[in-house]
Amino acid sequence: MGFTMLIVEDEETLRLSLRMALRAEGYNVLCTEKGEEALKIVEKELVDLVILDIRLPGMDGLQTMGKIKELDPTILTIVMTGYADVETAVRAMKMGAYDYINKPFELDEMKLVISKALETQKLKMELNRLRRGRMEGWAEAGIVARSGKMKEVLELVEKVSQTPRTSVLIEGETGTGKELIAHAIHNQSARSSKPLMDINCSAIPENLMEAHIFGHEKGAFTDAKTQHKGLFELADGGTVFLDEIGDLSLSLQPKLLRFLETQTFKRVGGTVDLKVDVRIIAATNKDLAQCTKEKTFREDLYYRLKVMEIHIPPLRQRREDIIPLAYSFLDRFNREFKKTVKGIAPKAEYLLEAYDWPGNVRELKNSIERAVLLASGEEILPQHLPWEIRGKESEGTPSHYSLDYSLEEIERIHILNVLQDTGGNKSLAARRLGISRSTLREKLIKYGQYERKD
Ligand SMILES: Nc1ncnc2c1ncn2[C@@H]1O[C@H](COP(=O)(O)OP(=O)(O)OP(=O)(O)O)[C@@H](O)[C@H]1O
Ligand SMILES: [Mg+2]
Repeated sequence: MGFTMLIVEDEETLRLSLRMALRAEGYNVLCTEKGEEALKIVEKELVDLVILDIRLPGMDGLQTMGKIKELDPTILTIVMTGYADVETAVRAMKMGAYDYINKPFELDEMKLVISKALETQKLKMELNRLRRGRMEGWAEAGIVARSGKMKEVLELVEKVSQTPRTSVLIEGETGTGKELIAHAIHNQSARSSKPLMDINCSAIPENLMEAHIFGHEKGAFTDAKTQHKGLFELADGGTVFLDEIGDLSLSLQPKLLRFLETQTFKRVGGTVDLKVDVRIIAATNKDLAQCTKEKTFREDLYYRLKVMEIHIPPLRQRREDIIPLAYSFLDRFNREFKKTVKGIAPKAEYLLEAYDWPGNVRELKNSIERAVLLASGEEILPQHLPWEIRGKESEGTPSHYSLDYSLEEIERIHILNVLQDTGGNKSLAARRLGISRSTLREKLIKYGQYERKD
């Protein structure tokens, strides 16, 4: 596995020779001469190990190390001390450095310390992995991932879960699983025992949003009879999930940016800066880069959020996931509706795999839910799938029901189709079917269908 290391050293010759030697060992090596710069790199890249000079211009080595540990406690650090400075070395070790090395040193000596450190790191990672049972763990969390693309996403999720302060931007089309992934990150992180607060930036009116997020003081506006804590305060120690971040108003964007940079904010009508410890996970199905061009999203905020980016590909770009997902939903809805549909007929599987899924996993889930309700035998058949998935197959045929169906079966399928077409509106469906609402209800109860929402 390719480890990434970061060398922080102001002496150019040493920096370059270390870089060369470590690259020759096959490591991915990043370099900088300044502590401040090192922090930016650690925020942006997934660094495994930092080799750090104690004496740096500007922010010194110990300070830098402390800040790095704050950003990501799993990063190993090796400090380089000069002039037989035992005292500093001891302090570094007390602060959590993995090891130290006295300057001047032989490159081989350094390589040995590094490989020892990486051994430890590898063991730790293995342990974490075992603990979570990898893919089985994901399945338990209700996440299905067969495709290489989705496995990559989950590996990234695993990594960011271990960096509890880094903010994360999740991008993907509607229904790709952004919310699911956001929850997984929180649940796997050190913050999991603390709250996860969700907020949908497009669902709350702009004028209420600020108070909702940051809280308000008594008297801040007409209705503010008492002081009120906002989401950020309620989530202290945990995570805030800002869904549909692309819809956050331009007036709030700088306030969020300030929060991301300083972890501080003011309540509406307040003058004091409050500080809380929360991780921000944002999600969007809009192209934020495009939004910055159209000036509806601030560029600085975009870049600040983009530091850790997770892109979930649309389902049509990872078709291997379709059938495993379909079966996991089949299982779920069998249990939920007390049905015993055992499988999906090959022809139906083919249709599922060939379809483009503009609504992604959510659309697949809804289709399987409906198919489980419709299926009366052991298998999901093509006619149980919505017409857009059956595509060409049903074109031009006014009725595509098999002649083997009983009248009752056809009635059932027809009722459910009409109901789907009216978006679940029962009054409208009853009118179209030419029956009363109560008759419709009776029939639905008879078929064992309930009202459900997603
Ligand atoms: N990999 C997956 N495994 C199992 N279920 C999934 C997976 N991805 C998505 N789902 C399910 O699909 C549905 C849609 O997912 P989710 O709500 O997370 O999508 P989203 O990207 O937030 O959509 P939107 O942009 O419309 O808000 C959910 O029921 C979720 O549980
Ligand atoms: Mg969502």
